[in-house]
Amino acid sequence: MVTKAVIPVAGLGTRVLPASKSIPKEMLPVVDKPAIQLVIEEAIEAGIKEIILVTRSGKEAIENHFDKHYELEAELERKGSSKAAILDSVRNILPADVRICAVRQPDAKGLGHAIHCAAPFVGEEPFAVLLPDVLVDCRDTETHDLQRMISTFNQNGCTQVMVEKVAQEDISKYGIADCKYSPEAGNSCKVNGFIEKPDPAIAPSDLAVVGRYVFPARIMSLLADTQPGAGGEIQLTDAMDELRHEQSMQVYRMSGLTFDCGNKAGYVEAVLHYALRHPETKDATRKLINNLSD
Ligand code: G1P
Repeated sequence: MVTKAVIPVAGLGTRVLPASKSIPKEMLPVVDKPAIQLVIEEAIEAGIKEIILVTRSGKEAIENHFDKHYELEAELERKGSSKAAILDSVRNILPADVRICAVRQPDAKGLGHAIHCAAPFVGEEPFAVLLPDVLVDCRDTETHDLQRMISTFNQNGCTQVMVEKVAQEDISKYGIADCKYSPEAGNSCKVNGFIEKPDPAIAPSDLAVVGRYVFPARIMSLLADTQPGAGGEIQLTDAMDELRHEQSMQVYRMSGLTFDCGNKAGYVEAVLHYALRHPETKDATRKLINNLSD
């Protein structure tokens, strides 16, 4: 059973500077929640009970956000029922049965290295990986994508890699899957490999890796032996390639929506999308959009 998730949050956030100079990019607000909270809620909805953040110095705000804030809670409590809803939103960020811990990535040696830093906490269990730049919203679909990936892994034991179709001009921004056909949304199919950020002219498909994975524990021992690859960094894609030679691997085609908050336009789109769903902001946001488009 997959109950653990690794979330690497040690990145420098260079694509959203200067906003991310002194606060972690994962803490940038999407309406009234930091982006990382939406990612952790997605993991919890999928049944995850233990979350391992891979972090670095200067990113303590993320851990603090999921910790108890005694003074704030006491103050809100003292103010009584008028602040009850806010108190609830601060106090119950994590359900009681979910644990969160943080481990440091001492050197910026790449995504593969970051995930491997969580190995002592993952042990011999399968686990999910969620890259926090991308927000996944499945609220309008029948399927919760990460939950579906986990249940498919539980049934067939195959690594699951979430993908979505992207436009030609975006192909060079993502890992691209090499598979014989494109599965229907909500389904998985065998993948023959991935090419990291290819030139669209040689890309094997238009199915891009979104940043959600379900791995067997074996990936950790492969990562331990992975040599620096592209950019001199230990690449997750290289360890996945090794794993694919040992066991069958599948891509899962998502049915929800994605927002790439790792770049400025994607972040603005995410804020608008979530503002249109939030009961307190939806009407004003709709009005604003209508006025702007007039
Ligand atoms: C990483 C992965 C890439 C994936 C992307 C999704 O790249 O290496 O395969 O498509 O995340 O956001 P990064 O964006 O960290 O360069």
